[in-house]
Order: sequence, then C-alpha cells, then structure tokens
Amino acid sequence: MKEAIDYLKRKLDAFPRVPMSLLPTPCHRLNAISEMYGVEVFCKRDDLTGFGFGGNKTRKLDLLLAEALDYECDTIVTSGGIQSNFCRITAAAGIYRGLSVHLVLGGQAPETLTGNLVLDEILGATTHFVEAAGFKDLEEESKRVARELESQGRKVFRIPVGGSVPMGAMAYTMAFTEILDDQERLGITFDHIIHASESGGTQAGLITGKLATGWRGNITGISAGTDRATLEEKIAVLANETAHLLEGRAERDAVVVDDAYIGEGYAIPTCAGERAVRLFAEKEGIFLDHVYTGKAASGLLDWLEKGRLKGQRVLFLHTGGTPELFA
Ligand SMILES: Cc1ncc(COP(=O)(O)O)c(C=O)c1O
Repeated sequence: MKEAIDYLKRKLDAFPRVPMSLLPTPCHRLNAISEMYGVEVFCKRDDLTGFGFGGNKTRKLDLLLAEALDYECDTIVTSGGIQSNFCRITAAAGIYRGLSVHLVLGGQAPETLTGNLVLDEILGATTHFVEAAGFKDLEEESKRVARELESQGRKVFRIPVGGSVPMGAMAYTMAFTEILDDQERLGITFDHIIHASESGGTQAGLITGKLATGWRGNITGISAGTDRATLEEKIAVLANETAHLLEGRAERDAVVVDDAYIGEGYAIPTCAGERAVRLFAEKEGIFLDHVYTGKAASGLLDWLEKGRLKGQRVLFLHTGGTPELFA
C-alpha cells in the first residue's frame, strides 16, 4: 500500500494548485461522542480549511483557480443554491486574484442579506437570482450569463455547480492521502469515512483515492438532497473521470450513498439534523450546518444508535458550511 500511496502523491503533486487552503486540517477523536456510543469516532476538520471561511470547497478551489488562471480568464461564473458555500469560496478565491466573479443563485433576491450572501456582498461578487430553479436550470442560466459576458468581451471561466468536475473532485483524492497520513500519525486505521454528499465531487475524489491506494475501509456519503440512485450514478461517473486524470479507473461498487436523512428536501432542515447540530456544539464544541453536515451527522448518530458501526473506527469528515448558521 505504501508504494501505491507514494505513487499517487507524486501524481497529485504534478497538478498546479493555488494553495489557499490551510493544510493539513486537524483530525482528532470526538471524545464525548465516542464515550456516548462506545465507538471510536474521529473528525477530520475540513471546516477549518481557512480561506474564505473554509469548508470542502476551499480545497476544490485550490485546483480550480489554478486552472482558471492558466486559462487567463478575467471573469469566473458559477452557480448554486441561494446559500451556496461553493459560490462564497469561488467569490473569495476569484476576487482575491483580481478576477470578476458572477454568481447565479437559486432563489428570490432577499430584502436582507444573511449567511453566505453577506460574505458574497462584502467580497463584491455580482449576484444573479433565479427563482424556483433546480440545479439543471441553474446550470443553464449560468451558461447564459457566461455567454452574455463573453459577448461583452470578457474571457470567462465557468465552473459547474459545486465545483464537481474531475479537477475539483481530485482535491478530495489529495484530501484522502491526507487522511491516510492522519491514520499514521494517530497510529490507527479507519474502517469507515462518513460525510455529506450532494454534487458528488467530495465523494468521487475520496473513492478515487481509496481505489488507487487499495485502502480497505468503506466510504458512505449521506445525501443532502438527491436520491440514492441518482447520486450514486453521478458519483460513479465523476470518480471514473477523476481516476482517468490519474491514469486509473473507478468501480461502481465502491460508491455508497445513504439518502435516508434528507427529510423533506435539499436545504429544508430536519429535526434529527437540528439535534445533531446541537449535540456536536454542546458535547464537542464543533459547529455544523443544517443543509449538509447536520444531516450527515444525523446519519452518523443514527447509525451509531442502531449499532451499525459497532467495533469500527469511524471518521466523520466535517465539510464546513457553517456560515449557513447565520442565514
Ligand atoms: C458544507 C458542504 N458539505 C458538503 C457538501 C457536499 O459536497 P459535494 O458537493 O462535493 O458532494 C457541500 C456542497 O455541496 C457543502 O457546501
């Protein structure tokens, strides 16, 4: 395995990055939760990637901004839900490097800005609101905005929702090698990684890392809004494309999504998610959010309560999203 890890790290090092994320992120035991359930539970703190308020998208932008700069664009266009974390970090990354950033956001323009929208505004991003839009409509609208800007002479680098393209997903193959380093430092082996999944890039990248290194543990994505079959298919395709960049291949069987914790839908809070947000805050001093990490943690806690993780060493990957708490 060591040889495979070193080989993967060398391949990953060849891709240009703009090193905005503060890496490696901490990885530590969740003492109270481990005691409560009699299971060793650890947390990889990707909420602490730092740049632009941090989260999993910061890692993706390290690679995607390098691509954008290489393309010599003057404008970035991307899209997402109204409180999109990816849009906030894209704005921070692009504007910090002197680019204009246009965000196509799903929802009605609010009278009062909250959460990520406050940060988008402070950064000086241009926002375009699209009412009642699903992710497909958002992509269409962001393509339209990109075409319009190009017709005005701008050179546009457009990033699909969530940065879940192979280059963005690869950030989580890099993160996976970091998790392997965490294992070594802590002197343990994780049996299971559990995290929030939605546009699929995070999970696709982790799976690419698992398959490239022969790591034996399981990876489960807890869906924030998409049904299991659709999300698993999307992740399998993306993992394969990501693996191709590294001259490898991904297998469909490695992709596991649990969609039991979505509740009424994407970005609609659940009681179990709210309980998880409070438990992590009260017992561990860790803030989650209601859209992604709270729902993922509600899945983790349910699995622990049902004894589904008995005897395992579990890693909860905290993917950030905390500005949502102020929305
Ligand atoms: C905080 C947070 N966690 C998890 C996710 C899911 O990651 P991915 O879109 O790569 O599946 C996202 C983005 O959608 C997010 O913003």
